[in-house]
Amino acid sequence: MRTQVTIIGSGPAGLLLGQLLTRAGIDNIILDRVSKDYILGRVRAGVLEWGSVGLLDEAGAGTRMHAEGLPHDGYSLAFDGRDHRIDLFGLTGKRVMVYGQTEVTRDLMDAREASGAVTIYDAANVQPHGFDGETPHVTYEKDGVTHRIDCDFIAGCDGFHGVSRKSVPEGAIKTFEKIYPFGWLGVLADIPPVSHELIYANHPRGFALCSMRSETRSRYYVQCPLDDKVEDWSDERFFDELRRRLPAHHAEAMVVGPSFEKSIAPLRSFVAEPMRFGRMFLVGDAAHIVPPTGAKGLNLAASDVHYLFEGLREYYGENSRAGVDAYSERALKRVWKSVRFSWSMTTLMHRFPDTGDFGQKIQEAELDYLTHSAAASTAMAENYVGLPF
Ligand code: FAD
Ligand code: DHB
Repeated sequence: MRTQVTIIGSGPAGLLLGQLLTRAGIDNIILDRVSKDYILGRVRAGVLEWGSVGLLDEAGAGTRMHAEGLPHDGYSLAFDGRDHRIDLFGLTGKRVMVYGQTEVTRDLMDAREASGAVTIYDAANVQPHGFDGETPHVTYEKDGVTHRIDCDFIAGCDGFHGVSRKSVPEGAIKTFEKIYPFGWLGVLADIPPVSHELIYANHPRGFALCSMRSETRSRYYVQCPLDDKVEDWSDERFFDELRRRLPAHHAEAMVVGPSFEKSIAPLRSFVAEPMRFGRMFLVGDAAHIVPPTGAKGLNLAASDVHYLFEGLREYYGENSRAGVDAYSERALKRVWKSVRFSWSMTTLMHRFPDTGDFGQKIQEAELDYLTHSAAASTAMAENYVGLPF
């Protein structure tokens, strides 16, 4: 088989890139090691920056998002028993869209199917080869047979545990990592959200987040110890803990009900540099991970795709390598700003085991400053709605 761009990974990064390339007349094949249903069963991010919304429109996959997604103009930072609203729209003139990653993925898969572009699911032992030369190729196994795809470029969109980053020689890559000493326990339940805007709560018992997927489906999280087991968290225990961390009026208003998804995610910051190795690019979680507090993971995958798509379009349309050559530098500049913001939101909102009295006072001062200074609130809002591409 031959194509122009082989995309490893059918998550949001791979699907969005594939869709933009197909619409620009650039041939591509997507490979994923798992099935379509498995991918659609994953519950992940929920907040889209307006730039990501624009990219989904550009990919021809935005119709349902505009019909069913919930535009949000602000969110609450809850501490000291009350809400402190960050007025995203008032401070920046921009909003965000609450629309789950599962739905984004489904819309991109539907658009891809309608375009007739090829996706190969359940592809085992996917391996990129020869990307340091001019003629890369990718091999994979399907139904016991080994296949080979020759291509011009390989896009490694295969997430943190994928094969692309691991295929790079050790000396050619530098990684930066910070592991946080807690996790997030998240539940999904068909109950109306406690508030029509998101609530990020800082409480002596730990962080809590009230988010949603629709007017009738809530997504809630609480900070928990890393060694906690999901089995030890009954719905009753979860909702009791969540309510204790919220201002009283939210706790009293909260409707509870059975959850149908419950999981614990560790929190980590990770960046691999560079993001290009000859004719292979790393895109999205394959290159970087952020803790979820700033809602940046999926949005960073989208901005990487933007830079890479621009580079590939220039390569094929204008016979110029400039955009492809600049991909890593352009993407990393934005990546590090999102890594910084996600780290600072995480540091601001969580209880750390080693904070101490001094650290606690600093956190309180920062929360007070952020919510009373127009300059500080604007800086936070500007980062939350997304820095320009
Ligand atoms: P992925 O979505 O990971 O997609 C990678 C794809 O590559 C997968 O389909 C995988 O099957 C495939 N793949 C992997 N290895 C191979 C291989 N060897 N061969 C072929 N295919 C392969 N972000 C937020 O903003 N908010 C959140 O609440 C949030 N929650 C999260 C919860 C979890 C458990 C995780 C893991 C992430 C969460 N994120 C969250 C981050 C966000 O979901 C990711 O940033 C986003 O999924 C990145 O998209 P991606 O396409 O780069 O990677
Ligand atoms: C959601 C997750 C986040 O990490 C976040 O910051 C906001 C919302 C969510 O799953 O809805």
